Amino acid sequence: MFQEIDWDKIKIESEPPKEEPQRQYYFMAKCRQFTKQFKAEHGRVPMAHVQNYGCQMNARDSEKLTGILEAMGYEITDSEEADFVIYNTCTVRENANNKVWGRLGYLNAYKKKHPHMKIALCGCMMQETEVIEKIKKSYRFVDIVFGTHNIYKFAELMHTALQQNDMVIDIWKDTDKIVEDLPVERKYAFKSGVNIMFGCNNFCSYCIVPYVRGRERSRKPQDILREIERLAADGVVEVMLLGQNVNSYGKTLDEPMTFAQLLQEVEKIEGIKRIRFMTSHPKDLSDELIEVMGKSHKICNHLHLPLQSGSSRILKEMNRHYDKEQYLALVAKIRAAVPNIALTTDIIVGFPGETEEDFSETMDVVRKVGYESAFTFIYSKRTGTPAAVKEEQIPEDVVKDRFDRLLKEVQRCSAARAEALTGRLDEVLVEEVNEQDDTLVSGRLGNNFIVHFPGSRDMIGKIVKVKLKECKGFYYYGELAGQER
Ligand code: 5AD
Ligand code: SF4
Repeated sequence: MFQEIDWDKIKIESEPPKEEPQRQYYFMAKCRQFTKQFKAEHGRVPMAHVQNYGCQMNARDSEKLTGILEAMGYEITDSEEADFVIYNTCTVRENANNKVWGRLGYLNAYKKKHPHMKIALCGCMMQETEVIEKIKKSYRFVDIVFGTHNIYKFAELMHTALQQNDMVIDIWKDTDKIVEDLPVERKYAFKSGVNIMFGCNNFCSYCIVPYVRGRERSRKPQDILREIERLAADGVVEVMLLGQNVNSYGKTLDEPMTFAQLLQEVEKIEGIKRIRFMTSHPKDLSDELIEVMGKSHKICNHLHLPLQSGSSRILKEMNRHYDKEQYLALVAKIRAAVPNIALTTDIIVGFPGETEEDFSETMDVVRKVGYESAFTFIYSKRTGTPAAVKEEQIPEDVVKDRFDRLLKEVQRCSAARAEALTGRLDEVLVEEVNEQDDTLVSGRLGNNFIVHFPGSRDMIGKIVKVKLKECKGFYYYGELAGQER
């Protein structure tokens, strides 16, 4: 993890070092010259805005971009009317791309009035060839474009862009490189995401992620544990271990290690009180992991287990490697080993060829499992994936109708699960002062449900006992009932 750097010791007049991360520290130091000069000219430090789109992996990447910008001497702002704006993009569904194209029009207008401004685009969407072609042709005002594999080079690309007026584009097809020890600025003081692996090898037939995030590669356990130890020393009590498929962690290491073994090591770290992880592919969820979850005192009683579809026929078409019965059997096994476990999921509606009968299988699984919550998505055709060329794409009105019915069922299940806990005492990690009512604070239970209760700012980051007084569907109103720990 990032250590304080003595910027004055970096020799910016000599050639840049070849090895990483020293090379990036060198370019950060070079960019500091620029921000210093900017301050001298404008009487203020330059402002930077980082806009995140997409998943928790992207959110963690944005924390790295923020850390690097701060190291370069920028001040971070929530406003897009800044001296530097970077969009960390997502491309999992078409509407994620559309949002970016829409916002870029607005940024262009702002840049016309503020020509010194620099605009950067990075993340998953930039790994698509058509996107790059479109930017080169129609979005010439963008200054820096890079992808998912070389995010660590941000400082170096920024330095190039500050020297010239041409667009700087650097996109890699894939990588086996993992650069450690870059600056990172956490959004929350008391909780943090921690990447344990990158990429995905599963090639679910609808999904673009394996094409834009590359092949699976795991960080070394020593690097992960060192990062978490440092986070704990810095006041972090909850970590979320992140990967597209955490259950296959460690397979590519020189000394292979299972995800369950890694979890046991994380459990030993003093100061860490809660461990979460995301995402688990049902096909790789081992008995060893279930056993470790059952025994652990720190792993939260929550498992995100994407279903995608309840129809065995569609699951086969999706290349998911499990069927409806296997999924339900897995759920039964987990529920038996980890009492009170909350299950959440991802479901896609309208996969090509999905019939009403297939859809009713999905509804059946939702009813049988009784998820605490579910993310429901309308199938989005992603060019380059096998599902995109399937002929039987489902009409929009049919999909919309199924989506609405599914959403209703998901909300009903979620409310029933939440209602069942009303009246109990449970532990809440306090996250923030409530946005609507500042006499309340808001936090999360181990099972990820949100609780609002009377409290004060000094409770943020603490775990307190709360009585769940009133259930409001997917959140509770509570009352403080115990000491912090
Ligand atoms: N269309 C709709 N949803 C998708 N997901 C992935 N690809 C697509 C797609 N093409 C969903 C899956 C995955 C979640 C992160 O996004 O449900 O689990
Ligand atoms: Fe996409 Fe499937 Fe990989 Fe998840 S496991 S990122 S859905 S290919």
